[in-house]
Parts: sequence; structure tokens; C-alpha cells
Amino acid sequence: MSGSGGKDRRGRAAARQHGQAPVRIRVGDWEQMRAAATAVRFAVFVREQGIPAELELDERDAGAVHAVAFAPSGAPVGTGRLLPDAHIGRMAVLPAARGQGVGAAILRSLVAVAQVKGMQELHLHAQSSALGFYERLGFVAVGDEYQEAGIAHRTMARSLPPPGQRPTRG
Ligand SMILES: CC(C)(COP(=O)(O)OP(=O)(O)OC[C@H]1O[C@@H](n2cnc3c(N)ncnc32)[C@H](O)[C@@H]1OP(=O)(O)O)[C@@H](O)C(=O)NCCC(=O)NCCS
Repeated sequence: MSGSGGKDRRGRAAARQHGQAPVRIRVGDWEQMRAAATAVRFAVFVREQGIPAELELDERDAGAVHAVAFAPSGAPVGTGRLLPDAHIGRMAVLPAARGQGVGAAILRSLVAVAQVKGMQELHLHAQSSALGFYERLGFVAVGDEYQEAGIAHRTMARSLPPPGQRPTRG
């Protein structure tokens, strides 16, 4: 997310006001998104959070829908995935791109894909530190906190209206 001029700042502010990020979100399968999604996930989960590299990619990537946010430069800055069993996961935004609506834009695009697929309820395992992020997008925590890859998590859920109806939140 380069650009520190006043025009860029105003652009970002306007984009946030309208619930959009100054990035392009692309949605695709693993073959299309692998390189970009892997770059972001390794930067955030492996290098920043210390999750073992061998846990980062798994066999479920091949069957998931992946959303990747690209900066105007073309560099990938955020990602997330939707599994066929209606689980959202691997949500990550590079540190320099956080707080600008990028994560919300990725999550909204995955929710939209889920709705088109006719999924009725979405689930995710939220890092406890990110609970507020998901709550803003309409997810509700269910059950107690637990450890996953050495990090505290809560399960969260959000129900979806039938295809053709607009989601009421997020
Ligand atoms: C969590 C994460 C994906 C959020 O991405 P982001 O691009 O910074 O989030 P956004 O800017 O779209 O934020 C959307 C809203 O959520 C809020 N928010 C963002 N991160 C938050 C957090 N950790 N806790 C509480 N609220 C948060 C923002 O303030 C914003 O609220 P607003 O609309 O009322 O202003 C990003 O911080 C990240 O990659 N963190 C490290 C990896 C991680 O924890 N992934 C989640 C794994 S479950």
C-alpha cells in the first residue's frame, strides 16, 4: 500500500467511508491464486506469527475458493479462503495494509461467494485477537476459547440469507 500523498490519503478515507478498500479483490481457485495467497500467508502466519511452515498450506487449499487483494501496484496484500463445508479461513492482511478495509473487503467477497453457492451458515476459527474484526462483519462467537497451532481461538458463525437476498449485515 504505497502512496503517502494527500490525494491517496483522501482516496483511502473515501473508500473506507463507502465500505470499500483501495485494492482489487480477485476470487479464484488454488491454481489461479496459489502464488499470491501463499506469499501473503507465509509473510503473516509463518514469519510474523511463527506458525510452522509445514502447517500453513494444506490439502484443503486445492478445493477452496480463494480471495486475494491486490494493491494498485499489482502486489498481493491480503487473502482468505472459503472451504466447501462453509468454513472461512486463512484470513491475512500484510501489516502495512491493515486498518484500511482490506480484510473486510476480502471477507465480504467470500461471504458473497458463499451466498451464491447457497450456503446457509458460515463458520470460522477466529484468533481471539481478531474477534472484533469478525464481529464487525456479522459473525458471532460460539463456545469457549481453545488453542490451535499454539494460538488462542474462538469458533464463530454467521447465518446467510438465501441466494438473491442481500445479507443484512457486514
Ligand atoms: C485480522 C486482519 C485480517 C484484519 O484485516 P484489516 O485489513 O486490518 O481489517 P479492516 O481494516 O478491514 O478492518 C475492518 C474493521 O475491523 C476492525 N478490526 C480490524 N482488526 C481488528 C482486530 N484485530 N480486533 C478488533 N477489530 C479489528 C477495524 O477497526 C475495522 O472496524 P471499522 O470498520 O469499525 O473501522 C489483519 O489484522 C491480519 O491479517 N491480522 C493478522 C492475521 C490474523 O490474525 N488473521 C486472522 C486469523 S483468524
